[in-house]
Amino acid sequence: MSINVVSYENCNGIGLVLISNPPVNAISPEVVAGLRRALGAFEADAEAKALVIHCEGRTFVAGGDIASFGSPYFDTRPFNLLLVRLDASPRPVVATLHGTVLGGGLELAMACHHRLTLPETRFGMPEVKLGLLPGSQGTQRLPRLAGVPLTLDLILTGRFISAQDALAAGIVDEIAEGDSLALGIGAAERLVKANAPLRRSSTLKVAVDAATTQALAAAAAKAAEKPAYPALGAIVRAVEAAVNLPFADGEEVEAREFERLRLSSTSRALRHLFFAERAAARIPGLPREIRAREVRSVGIVGAGTMGGGIAMNFANVGVPTVLVETTDEALKRGLSVIRKNYEASAAKGKLSAEEVEKRMELLSGSLDYASLASSDLVIEAVFENLQIKREVCARLGQVCKEEAILATNTSTLDLDILAQATGRPADVVGMHFFSPANVMRLLEVVRGAKTAPDVLSTVMQIARTIGKVPVVSGVCYGFIGNRMLEPYMRETEFLLLEGAQPQQIDTAIESLGLAMGPCRMSDLSGVDIGAKVVNEQFEAGELPPDPSYRVVVRKLFDLGRYGQKTEAGYYRYEGRTPLPEPVVATVCTELAREHGISRRSNITDQEIIQRLMYPLINEGIQILDEGISYRPSDIDVVWTAGYGFPDHRGGPMFMADQIGLSEIEKTLEHYGRMRGNQFGYWTPSNLLKSLAASGEHIVAWTKG
Ligand code: COA
Repeated sequence: MSINVVSYENCNGIGLVLISNPPVNAISPEVVAGLRRALGAFEADAEAKALVIHCEGRTFVAGGDIASFGSPYFDTRPFNLLLVRLDASPRPVVATLHGTVLGGGLELAMACHHRLTLPETRFGMPEVKLGLLPGSQGTQRLPRLAGVPLTLDLILTGRFISAQDALAAGIVDEIAEGDSLALGIGAAERLVKANAPLRRSSTLKVAVDAATTQALAAAAAKAAEKPAYPALGAIVRAVEAAVNLPFADGEEVEAREFERLRLSSTSRALRHLFFAERAAARIPGLPREIRAREVRSVGIVGAGTMGGGIAMNFANVGVPTVLVETTDEALKRGLSVIRKNYEASAAKGKLSAEEVEKRMELLSGSLDYASLASSDLVIEAVFENLQIKREVCARLGQVCKEEAILATNTSTLDLDILAQATGRPADVVGMHFFSPANVMRLLEVVRGAKTAPDVLSTVMQIARTIGKVPVVSGVCYGFIGNRMLEPYMRETEFLLLEGAQPQQIDTAIESLGLAMGPCRMSDLSGVDIGAKVVNEQFEAGELPPDPSYRVVVRKLFDLGRYGQKTEAGYYRYEGRTPLPEPVVATVCTELAREHGISRRSNITDQEIIQRLMYPLINEGIQILDEGISYRPSDIDVVWTAGYGFPDHRGGPMFMADQIGLSEIEKTLEHYGRMRGNQFGYWTPSNLLKSLAASGEHIVAWTKG
């Protein structure tokens, strides 16, 4: 009997439920309906002595269908009732597990009486990453099988564990190699033959000892420190219920907490980002059958902080990488910084000493461009200066082999000019890494006017291989992220001139959940770096014709206040601790007088947030209108994966919809009146105006 995505058949006396809902057999409403029918068929099938639940394709159920969580009709009860029926079945029920058994998948498995798994299977409860808790009895069954400390660890972190660890923890009963369906049927036959009492997870006692109480208290304290993530506290309460209440009552606590979380803005934001990150990998108009170029070796020009960090990404995944520098000293310094980074990871127990050596062996250095001749991918990471980068690109065009991909790590410069300089623009693409390049997840992939489709597609694949989240940007000043950062930094400086203090601005912005406010961020990344970019734009005549534009950063640069590296920038530093610096207030007062800007003492946190965030959002919407970014959610990925924007706010576009587009439009116009709009800083983009007028959401917008 075939029932859409779930089928039931009797296979020589063993009932067989097959789930087939590609790509990951997620529990959708259709799967629930199919399971209900299949279970009904088994219950009516007197010839079936036991039941095996098996999934087709790459994995057992990898969770609830995340897309369905947003539906007003979403309800966990129908699935949960099925789990109760499975658990209570008088005939043995076996789950045969492979792939990634996650969330609702693990909950389904735990409701069965016996769990058999292939050795490579991984297990986890990743709901917390979506701002949720396991809502199908997972918080009640897992403590009964694996104890409270491990349950809290798994559900609070969402980390995956191996089949071996799952066996040791009591989460699965058996690891076997071979055809998992045949193995499952074999296990069911054994259970029938043994005729022993069935082990129902709902009836097991939760082990309670000192470690349990301690784990619960520690988890509750940690959760209280992170109020922006309500799932953490809810998980602790639900697991506590498993300890203190009968199964059915604990299930009720879990259900209440789940529903509250499902409707929370945090979970909606995190679910949005789950799909956003996956959507970002899709490039509209790229033929599906396109063949990626092979990348077995990488060359990097420049062994500074950026070049070194980029090289580590490739050594980490076993790709031999050569670094080219201009002096032996710079090369040695670069390689020794990389070694130090690896050794620091080893000291923290994240890497073994052998692994450090293995990775270092994959890295070589050279002073000669000729050593790049055989590299499949070459990334230039030299100083951010058009002339220098142009020369490097021209040399790469000459020395690199045909078919090699030539990438630039520029963060602001015109990719098409650099592509032209190579003489082979189809091979050129931007790979904009974020500092520290071995840590930050974002990779902006910049598509030039002539970038070949296979080059683009190859770089998107490589990004995934090295663990990055790639987002494609068209060519414009600063691409997606830095272009949006520009009005944010501009308003930071104007507020400083008008009388705000760096710590007031940073505190207001950090209250949103951003990792760092703009002044601390500039001090960390280098005031000199920021000032040089502004100065170069000034020399190129590309700045707005506003004499007060970005005068603070340029003045701090002139004063040698480069940020943390000189222990003085927007703040003065003791170690890494920023301390208020009266000199900066004096500098701002003098600059304000020079530029006729009146100072005031009534700048509120709300004004800071609006003046920094709303122009940033406006710029993002303008970027969409210009087609620089393919979709609104790509912008959210850029900001959450690369700029420390809080994931619980979903990114600037998601946040814009929460605030309301017409509210943003009105506020921009308000500041335009207050500050004057001579330079167009406050003009809402046409797209913002039209969406605000029609009441549409920006995250749902697609370019027509
Ligand atoms: N619900 C709906 N769709 C899901 C899903 C889920 N629980 N899990 C994965 N998918 C979809 C993805 O959106 C993607 O779709 P696309 O190809 O249209 O973009 C596809 O399945 C493959 O997922 P992807 O993450 O690209 O593949 P992967 O092999 O790298 O990882 C998983 C597979 C299952 C490990 C990963 O997708 C994952 O962690 N999923 C979430 C699991 C989860 O949170 N479960 C609990 C839900 S409450």
